[in-house]
Order: sequence, then structure tokens, then C-alpha cells
Amino acid sequence: MVEVQSTGHSWDGIEEYDNPLPRWWLWTFYVTIVWALVYALAFPAVPLLKGTTQGFLGYTPRDQVEAEIRRFDEANAPVETRLASVELTDIQGDPELLNYANNAGAAVFRTYCAQCHGSGAGGNPGYPNLLDNDWLWGGSIEDIHLTVMHGIRSPDDDDTRYSEMPRFGIDGLLDDREIDQVTQYVLSLAGLPHKQSLARDGAEVFEDQCVACHAEDGTGDRMQGAPDLTDAVWLYNVDGQADEATIRRIIHDGPFGVMPAWSGRLSESHIRAVSAYVHGLGGGE
Ligand code: HEC
Ligand code: HEC
Repeated sequence: MVEVQSTGHSWDGIEEYDNPLPRWWLWTFYVTIVWALVYALAFPAVPLLKGTTQGFLGYTPRDQVEAEIRRFDEANAPVETRLASVELTDIQGDPELLNYANNAGAAVFRTYCAQCHGSGAGGNPGYPNLLDNDWLWGGSIEDIHLTVMHGIRSPDDDDTRYSEMPRFGIDGLLDDREIDQVTQYVLSLAGLPHKQSLARDGAEVFEDQCVACHAEDGTGDRMQGAPDLTDAVWLYNVDGQADEATIRRIIHDGPFGVMPAWSGRLSESHIRAVSAYVHGLGGGE
């Protein structure tokens, strides 16, 4: 044992030894100080009133994220270019394109479409279910692509799909009794419980006012986005079921479903990706 020197301080007979810090400890301590200084100069570190000091390396995590995104974009560029240029109908027969379109399309759908059409594309009242094979405007890949490009009744797109069912009640085209009658007739078309005597008169109203769009037999017209009124699928509904009050309200107030146009907001390849994705959901034609 080495005899340790005393500092010479003594309290009530207790002496203080003069024990220097171990070298290795001291040097580690100095190195951390130097490291901290260099780090603070090299990287964004010191908070200022606005932002922080930038650091001489010019590194930020944001740049790194951008670089990552660029790397992915570059890696995807060839397949994106191909997706944007092939015939729409050829996508399905090309496994690489279809796989890419489905993955990218699902991501686009989650970001831009799910708010209205539901996260599983099952729809909401006024926002059609995209899983079934019941289409307002058509379910081929070309039809879906056109719908997504230009939207439906989209005010900022000149090529938007457009049609307008009259507001029969609000604009006084039909009186309350006629609306009751034709409502019962629509219920009868769909094979739902209805009041027969009213429905009989409603058939005449329908013949006069509705067949131009919904067709003689009520099966609708895709050229005008007019729904089939004879099936069990309802665009405006409560929990997927037709109910008398909703049908009457639609006839009285007129529907006016608006779907945004995406041509200015999404790239052609992303529009195609999401169209192929929707087409592949089960109802594609
Ligand atoms: C702001 C709400 C909204 C958003 C967002 C939206 N849609 Fe729609 N979409 C609608 C409405 C409303 C309709 C039905 C319009 C009508 O009544 O004719 C519709 C109809 C459609 C149709 C036609 C269905 C048919 O039966 O013909 C397709 C396809 C479609 N949407 C796909 C998409 C895709 C893909 C996206 C995302 C890129 C999207 N929608 C985003 C509201 C929306
Ligand atoms: C000018 C064309 C046109 C005429 C005329 C017309 N409709 Fe429509 N109807 C549509 C369109 C288009 C829609 C879907 C519109 C939308 O979603 O905005 C629709 C939707 C409906 C719906 C909702 C269907 C659902 O699935 O929820 C009902 C019910 C309906 N129409 C009944 C009638 C009746 C009854 C008449 C006659 C009194 C009539 N329509 C006349 C075009 C027309």
C-alpha cells in the first residue's frame, strides 16, 4: 500500500486524504468535453430564438428523409413510367405492374379516398361502396380511371362526369302527394314492402318524370350515373338498407353527390395505381 498524503485538513482528528482522480477517468472526462464542443459546432445544436445553429456539417434529419424519399422515387421511376404509359387494360396481365399498382394504390386510397369511401372501401351513406359490382358510372378500369381523373360533379374540372337529378319537391315539380306515390313505387321496384294503391299512381309519375334517367324498368343509366333502383344496393341509405324516409328525401331535395377530380393533384401513375387497386377490390368489370 502506498502511503497517501494528507491534505493537512483535519476536523476533530479526522484527516482528509489527498487522493487525485484516476488518470483514465480524468482523460475520459476531458475527451467528453472536447466531443461536446465539436458536436455542438458540427451538428444543429444550440437553440436560437428562431430555429437552431446549423452546424458546419450541414446535416439535418429532414435532409436524410428527403434523400431516402428520392432514393425510393428513383428506384420506382422505371415501373412508374411504365404504369403511366401502358394501355390501362394491360395492367392486369402484367404481374410486376399489377403488384406495384396494388401496393401504391392501396397507399393512395388510404391517404386520399378513405375519408369518404371508408377505410375498407365499403362506402358511407352518399359515398358509394367500391367493393361490390354495382356501379353508378361503370366498373371497367377505363371507367374507374375516368371517374378518378375528372371526378363527379366536380366544380373545378371541365371534363367532370355530370348529371343532375331534379329537386322535385324543393322546386315544386311534384306535389307532396305525387312524391308519396312515386316513393311507394320506388319501394315496389326494389321489391320492398309498400302501399299498393299509392304505388299504382306512382307508376305514372315515374313514367313521366323518372324514366329518362332511371330507365323504363328502373334499372338506371350509367351514362348519367343514375342508380339502379331495383336492386338491394342503395347509395343514400341508413346502415346499407333502403328506408322510405331517405328515398322520399332524395326525391324531394334532389341528390347532388360530389366526388373531387384528382388529375391536378395526383400523378398519372398514382391515379392509375389507385384505379387498378379499386378495380381489383372485387367489383371490377
Ligand atoms: C370528398 C369525398 C370523396 C373523396 C375524397 C373521394 N370520393 Fe370517390 N366518390 C365520392 C362520391 C360522393 C361519389 C358518388 C357520386 C355520385 O353520387 O354519383 C364517388 C364515386 C366514386 C366512384 C364511382 C363509383 C361508381 O359506382 O361508379 C369511384 C370509382 C370513386 N369514387 C373512387 C374514388 C377514389 C379512387 C378516390 C381517391 C383517389 C375517391 N373516390 C375519393 C366522394 C369522394
Ligand atoms: C336527370 C336524371 C334523373 C332524373 C330525371 C331522376 N333521377 Fe333519380 N337519380 C339520378 C342520379 C344521377 C342519381 C344519383 C345522383 C347523386 O348521387 O347525386 C339519382 C338518385 C336517385 C335515388 C337514390 C338512389 C340510391 O341508390 O340511393 C332515388 C331514390 C331516385 N334517384 C329516384 C328518382 C325518382 C323517383 C325520380 C322521378 C321522380 C328520379 N329519380 C328522377 C338521376 C335522375
